[in-house]
Amino acid sequence: MARQTSLTQYLVEQQREHGHIPQELRLLIEVVARACKRIAIAVNKGALGDVLGTAGSENVQGEVQKKLDIIANEVLIEANEWGGHLAAMASEEMDGIYVVPNRYPQGEYLLLFDPLDGSSNIDVNVSIGTIFSVLRKVGHSRGVSEDDFLQPGKQQAAAGYCVYGPQSMLVLTVGDGVAVFTLDRETGSWVLTQDQVKIPEDTKEFAINMSNMRHWAPPVKRYIDECLAGSAGPRAKDFNMRWVASMVADVHRILTRGGVFMYPWDQREPDKPGKLRLMYEANPMAFIVEQAGGAATNGTERIMSLHPTKLHERVAVVLGSKNEVERFTAYHLEAAEK
Ligand code: AHG
Ligand code: MN
Ligand code: MN
Repeated sequence: MARQTSLTQYLVEQQREHGHIPQELRLLIEVVARACKRIAIAVNKGALGDVLGTAGSENVQGEVQKKLDIIANEVLIEANEWGGHLAAMASEEMDGIYVVPNRYPQGEYLLLFDPLDGSSNIDVNVSIGTIFSVLRKVGHSRGVSEDDFLQPGKQQAAAGYCVYGPQSMLVLTVGDGVAVFTLDRETGSWVLTQDQVKIPEDTKEFAINMSNMRHWAPPVKRYIDECLAGSAGPRAKDFNMRWVASMVADVHRILTRGGVFMYPWDQREPDKPGKLRLMYEANPMAFIVEQAGGAATNGTERIMSLHPTKLHERVAVVLGSKNEVERFTAYHLEAAEK
């Protein structure tokens, strides 16, 4: 039988050979992975576990919460609050930060998550996921506040997502490339199934919600029009389109076979820079994509260089195959110069 590498073994080897992962960070990642396993089990039970449908409440962003949004949020908090590795957590589903209660020791890490990404797909049995980002509390201030979280994405110590699809997979970076683990349901362990994932630099596949076309800014329209013109147009090749409407699933496809994902600013809500959230959606995905050789910008700037000013800040996102992201970004910069 081929020898398998578990998540634990991968992390121990990273720690031993490359010194990337301090002990506390290893514990943190293992705890998050265990929580994702519990969420995967709940997702799989579906109606049998009474986890489908809405919870009848709204989150701070005015979105209706699904039962699974709340369950996944609770699972992640319960799993992480007692281990001594964290100072505080923040989530899409919580207004403010969650400071580790006094009865537990406080660690130096900060954990942010989108507990359940792709909520609109829960009830229709389409892939959904969990996204997480890990920061270190910098400075020696006593206690912890929201300000401690407001660090640019390039300071992330680790990031990952779990996709609950036909297989449950955990995708992780600690800044040394991207590794993929598949959940073995019989043994209950995360098994390394791909290491040093690389996103092809070129692609013929794009992902965007086309129903928003009439609301887009001119550079977005230009980019998509050129793709749609296919082999007869300036790009001289035919493009394909995919849109799952779960960022985890769209990013996972791009990690697997290349592509470009866009959720740009549009005129529906002109005061918001975009729909997706910087700190627990865009930053962790940008870290993973860059570690796999891709790129991630907001149309003009690298996502991971942006300085957040609030926890639930939104951002325009374009990420994936490097040459396409650079082209999309160049169209924005050209338009800005005019
Ligand atoms: P969430 O379920 O965490 O609120 O995130 C949903 C996001 C993202 O996963 C996806 O790419 C996008 O919303 C889909 O938006 P549209 O429904 O506008 O296509
Ligand atoms: Mn999301
Ligand atoms: Mn969510």
